[in-house]
Amino acid sequence: MAQNMSVLLLLLLLSFAVTTHAAYNVVDFGAKPDGRTDAAKAFLSAWAAACGATKPAMVHVPAGRFFVSQARFAGPCKNNKIRVFIDGTVVAPPGNNGVVEWIAFKYVDGLSIYGGTLDGQGQSMWACKKAGRSCPIATTSLTIGLSKNVLVQGLTSLNSEGFHMSIFGSSGVTVKGAKFLAPGDSPNTDGIHVQMSSFVNILSSTMKTGDDCISMGAGTSAVWIQGINCGPGHGISIGSLGGLPQEPGVQNITVTSVVFSGTQNGLRIKTWGKPHVGYVKGVVFQHAVMNDVQNPIVVDQNYCPGNINCPGQSSGIKISQVSFTDIRGSSATAVAVKFDCSPSNPCTGFGLRDIKLTYQKNKQAQSFCKNVKGSTSGVMNPPSCL
Ligand SMILES: *[C@@H]1O[C@H](CO)[C@@H](O)[C@H](O)[C@H]1NC(C)=O
Repeated sequence: MAQNMSVLLLLLLLSFAVTTHAAYNVVDFGAKPDGRTDAAKAFLSAWAAACGATKPAMVHVPAGRFFVSQARFAGPCKNNKIRVFIDGTVVAPPGNNGVVEWIAFKYVDGLSIYGGTLDGQGQSMWACKKAGRSCPIATTSLTIGLSKNVLVQGLTSLNSEGFHMSIFGSSGVTVKGAKFLAPGDSPNTDGIHVQMSSFVNILSSTMKTGDDCISMGAGTSAVWIQGINCGPGHGISIGSLGGLPQEPGVQNITVTSVVFSGTQNGLRIKTWGKPHVGYVKGVVFQHAVMNDVQNPIVVDQNYCPGNINCPGQSSGIKISQVSFTDIRGSSATAVAVKFDCSPSNPCTGFGLRDIKLTYQKNKQAQSFCKNVKGSTSGVMNPPSCL
């Protein structure tokens, strides 16, 4: 895999060399691959040159460790074909400086990022959170915001302080062949969080994190997730939704061919038990393998930590047209399928087909249903309560 990636990078670099693209190497702008000298200015200058070019342009980060305090790359750019090739490792400041974004791309249309390792150095933030102290905001390692037509291919993100990657206010974003890695007990190190975005593809990637492998928040639509290895982590989640009034809905989400190993959840939809209205509709979960997953299939509309401000514990979010097809493997708890929906907005149009989930040897896994309507077909283990 790593070798394929370098061959790909080499070919892409060669193809750039023989055509008339503008190319900018961060080292030529003063970046030092010593892992200590702040290369932020050099990175931003190389970006400014590429973004200001009137023809396709490339930024190259060669091999080595580049310390970057913070780099927020902004458009709009004068061309819509910017490529960033990263051979080296980009290293974050080690501690808790309270910035929301470390590496960010915003207002860009037409950007491809190939390769690279981002080292978020999140260890001291995790220690702060685990000690129960009041900690500054945890930095997101990579942000794609308010952008269109972005590809992130072959990236490795290590040890983020907070989210490894955030996609917000964007359309047409593909993440492919990526790795998001942090220890299973590192707090809030989600793999990818998607918010207010559409036409997002997350493909062929590995996520080992201390929180959701992928989470989808309000205003997310037309998302395709395929070929993900998740675990450790909290699974793939829609939500939490309905924590605030007037959130836009979530629609047309497909999650297919995913493997969960030792995760807290598998496929999950989660809403606050608050009255704020909203919706989730048109969700396809299919071809999933669960290896010792605590909650393989879970819809929970009662989220309310501390039981504060959740009058009547009844969610205003309507969840409909959700199907689970070909979900198999093992549950680490007795209840393998849990639908705990809102009393005021029952779940409707749920479908289960070919569910084969086991619980330990010789024990029957169970289903739990509350305020949910739907139909089943094919094999049903555990027996359905729809
Ligand atoms: C969702 O999918 C339906 C059916 O394919 C389509 O008509 C609708 O426009 C889609 N909506 C969004 C927001 O993607």
